[in-house]
Amino acid sequence: MSATIIDGKAIAAELRGRIAGEVARLKAAHGIMPGLAVVLVGKNPASEVYVRNKSKAVTDAGMNPVDRYLPESVSEAELLALIDALNADPAVNGILVQLPLPPQIDSQKVIAAIDPAKDVDGFHPLNVGKLGSGLPALVPCTPLGCIILAKKAKASLAGLDAVVIGRSNIVGKPVAQLLLAENATVTIAHSRTRDLAAVCRRADVLIAAIGKPEFVRAGWIKPGATVIDVGINRVPGDAGKTKIVGDVAFAEASAVAGAITPVPGGVGPMTIACLILNTLRATCAQNDVPAPNLDLSGSNQPHQLSRLPPA
Ligand code: GUN
Repeated sequence: MSATIIDGKAIAAELRGRIAGEVARLKAAHGIMPGLAVVLVGKNPASEVYVRNKSKAVTDAGMNPVDRYLPESVSEAELLALIDALNADPAVNGILVQLPLPPQIDSQKVIAAIDPAKDVDGFHPLNVGKLGSGLPALVPCTPLGCIILAKKAKASLAGLDAVVIGRSNIVGKPVAQLLLAENATVTIAHSRTRDLAAVCRRADVLIAAIGKPEFVRAGWIKPGATVIDVGINRVPGDAGKTKIVGDVAFAEASAVAGAITPVPGGVGPMTIACLILNTLRATCAQNDVPAPNLDLSGSNQPHQLSRLPPA
């Protein structure tokens, strides 16, 4: 058996195209230009790449990128003052502060300072609480991308056994909440889970967000399962170069799984597409314009998507 490859790059491109269409309509009908502010502190090379990709996606969608670069040495007070200014700026509809932040800055304090209506990362405690309570909310981008991809393979996740490996606030916990909202039976596994392989083998949907290269082996996967690989790990490749691999041993896993996302080209492109989606939805909500119906997974839209943006 050989798994269907879930082409995140193509699915993200299609979604971005639809968003661009909606942005054009928003401009024509209402004179509204969505703006996304991305704040990058310091010079983390991986973060710089993400921020560049984000700006390009924002521009491609017809939105206005507002990039703010701050030095590694910036104080917490200076960053909070910038957040206040962005909160008050009517041309800014979404705010993303790239994580991690340097040690002199309390990330939770910064996240809590972002206007929840502009919190396109879905990290603000109000949006986290709304997601957990089943209320409409801005939800984190990578988890949202995972659900859209999983639903490309299995139109309904209702009643399925879903196992999430990883319990981070950015991926593990919110993706578990989204799976629950899709009526899956959800297990969150982590570094202290006993017999992780046996837990994973129960999964109809397995979401790997551990940050360890090729950690999930073929023998952990239930035959026919849908495997969503969130990992982006740099490892030594050929000729002294580095290559990127996921958290799942792709070649062997794809012989067992029913459907699987590749790395690169799986979840990664969806994160940015969902950021643009969240920016569009936040813009609509802030302007009392109905959220567009983007028909994200055929006839069966993800539950949370159909209920966004935030109240
Ligand atoms: N760093 C790694 N992933 C993310 C993300 O989704 N959002 C932000 N703000 N920072 C990140």
